[in-house]
This record gives sequence, structure tokens and C-alpha cells, in this order.
Amino acid sequence: MTLAIIAIAASYLLGSVSFSIIIARLMGKIDIRQHGSGNAGATNTLRVLGKGPGIAVFLLDIVKGVIAVTLGYLLNGDEYVWLPVLCGLAAIIGHNWPIYFRFKGGKGIATTVGAMVTLAPLAVVIAGVVAILLIVFTRYVSLGSIVFTVLLPIILAIGGWPASYIWGGVVVAVLAIVRHRKNIVKLLNGTENKLGSGKKGEP
Ligand code: G3P
Repeated sequence: MTLAIIAIAASYLLGSVSFSIIIARLMGKIDIRQHGSGNAGATNTLRVLGKGPGIAVFLLDIVKGVIAVTLGYLLNGDEYVWLPVLCGLAAIIGHNWPIYFRFKGGKGIATTVGAMVTLAPLAVVIAGVVAILLIVFTRYVSLGSIVFTVLLPIILAIGGWPASYIWGGVVVAVLAIVRHRKNIVKLLNGTENKLGSGKKGEP
């Protein structure tokens, strides 16, 4: 039990390492949360600082999810079948509410990709293809992100993945909807940012 709690806490602390905040501070000498959409994530880093930093943040945030779930797998046993899922969720929660940055973080999508691809790669590929197509055709990253996370538990349930993965997927979708609530309002009233609109440094 103690080991499980340590793994979950370590995953939260790892998730709290907000690469968008760190890279924006190092490269742009700015707090990314004061620019663009104000979100500490890959999309906003891309919007404010450009492609290179945006891609770097996306990949590093994915790695956080991969490491957290791997840690859960390494420490789980018959007793702890939920541990990989709980570690992945802890990393996403850390990303969204980071202890090192006054609990003001991102929306957790890249870290969700990392966690879920380690748990159920095929489900991520299917949901990911739909999300990418949506983003390409609408240029709304937020819409693609929300649809991606909502599809995950549905695909996991249809595909007969373990209950812990399906419930983990449900929590992931709820977290994503909560974190995207302002985006949802903007999508509904037609004022959401489109990918590639505006000059670098503008939303
Ligand atoms: O993953 C975040 C993305 O879905 C939306 O980001 O900056 O447009 O609010 P942003």
C-alpha cells in the first residue's frame, strides 16, 4: 500500500513539471499563462512561441504520462491492478494543477495521450485519428482534444479493455471537459481560437 501511495504521489509530482511554463520562461522570458489563451500547454506554446517549442512541450508532456503509467506497471501486482491507471491520472492532475506553479497548469491532453498510449495504444490510435482529422478540418484543437478524450472510454468499453482502463478513461474525459469549459463556451458562440489564425504571439 505504501509503495502504491508513493508511486501515485511521485506521478503527481512528475505531472506537475509544466514544460510549457519552463520552456516559455527559458526561451521567451515570459509566463505562458499571461499570453495567448493563458493555458500552460503545447497548443498555447505553439501559438505564442512557435512550432519548435510547441512540439517540444507536446512531446515532453506525453513523456510524463508514459513514465507515470510505466511506474504503475512496475510496482503493480495482483493487489494493485488499478495502479497504472491511478499513476496516469495523478500525472494528468499534476499537469492540470501543478504544485510547483501555484496549481495553475494546462488541460492535460498531451499527458493523457502519454498515459493512455501506455495503457491501451490501439484505443489511442483510433481516437487520435478521429481527433487529428477534426483538427485538420475545423482547426479547433480544443474540439479535437475534447472528442479524443470522450471517445477513449467508449472505445475501451467496446474493445473489452479492463474495467480500470475504462473508468480511467471516464475520469480522463471528465477532467478534459472541466478544463476545456471556457473553450466549450467559445466553440458554442463561435469565438474559439483556430489553429494558425493570428500572428505568432497572438491568440
Ligand atoms: O490541449 C489544449 C487545447 O485543447 C486547447 O488549448 O490554448 O487553445 O485553450 P487552448
